[in-house]
Amino acid sequence: MTTTSNEPTTDASRVDDPAPRPRATAEEVAAAFEDTKLAQVLYHDWEAETYDDKWSISYDERCIAYARGRFDAVASDQTLPYERALELGCGTGFFLLNLMQAGVAKTGSVTDLSPGMVKVALRNAENLGLTVDGRVADAEGIPYEDDTFDLVVGHAVLHHIPDVGQALREVLRVLKPGGRFVFAGEPTTVGNIYARRLGQLTWYFTTNATKLPALRSWRRPQEELDESSRAAALEAVVDLHTFEPRELQKLAREAGAIEVGVKTEEFAAALFGWPIRTFEAAVPPEKLSLQWRLFSYQAWKKLSWLDETVMRRIIPRGFFYNAIITGVKPAG
Ligand SMILES: C[S@@+](CC[C@H](N)C(=O)[O-])C[C@H]1O[C@@H](n2cnc3c(N)ncnc32)[C@H](O)[C@@H]1O
Repeated sequence: MTTTSNEPTTDASRVDDPAPRPRATAEEVAAAFEDTKLAQVLYHDWEAETYDDKWSISYDERCIAYARGRFDAVASDQTLPYERALELGCGTGFFLLNLMQAGVAKTGSVTDLSPGMVKVALRNAENLGLTVDGRVADAEGIPYEDDTFDLVVGHAVLHHIPDVGQALREVLRVLKPGGRFVFAGEPTTVGNIYARRLGQLTWYFTTNATKLPALRSWRRPQEELDESSRAAALEAVVDLHTFEPRELQKLAREAGAIEVGVKTEEFAAALFGWPIRTFEAAVPPEKLSLQWRLFSYQAWKKLSWLDETVMRRIIPRGFFYNAIITGVKPAG
């Protein structure tokens, strides 16, 4: 286990985590099409060092407020902070590190199937001065003792896990009695259809429009675009599920959780956000000015407000893009 602080962890065993594999061989990529967990590791190890830039992830007010907002959407009535929190599928640490900065938890453990992601998450935690340790871990078999954590969180991870029910049972095992889990950023079945289609169309139009001589300077180098296309092919292997809110709720109850709640968010915000994010990934980063980034963030915020105040009253919850689920481990 790797740690960014000198504090002891409660796990006696130290493990040697595998090293990141940022450059996969052609044989490994071919094998990954038959092995979803190998695909997760290759795809996310490959993305790890550029992930924060690609998804405009930061550890400042903007993302602190976003992470806290997702937590409060389903668990606003909690007494904070939690003593010890675990993140599954942490990526670069976006959710837990920002929740810790928002005062939701005092200490944290970041885990991910991808060694590259754990490495970046620990580096981010260290830069932020947070008390965090980290481990390469599969959510279907979490390498921590029973009753260890007060809070387990995840963002955009459940849809990558082959057996979501098994992962939720593991979450309940490592939670202390009365402990809570919050998983946010899970695609709904309907939301995923329009988000994917909008993303594909935006990629097609942007990469073709930037072939025009007048727009050449907006074109990313061909090898980068080819690499993105190969990654997009693997993306089809790593994205395993979409969720109907009611089905997700049922899975958590069957795993043994109580006080289960599912909320969905982002309709207009997702219709706007997916083309914007795809456009940003298709052009050279230096073309995106601070004004552009501020404009897209402010527009997304206004549309999220519209979703909460107006769309929620007229559109079924399954049409919103993001699902957030929470639940509690029964006491005793
Ligand atoms: C879409 S990324 C989200 C990363 C981060 N939570 C965020 O929101 O920025 C999904 C993450 O889940 C990880 N992952 C996929 N399958 C996993 C599994 N079975 N156990 C643990 N992590 C997994 C991937 O390696 C990847 O880092």
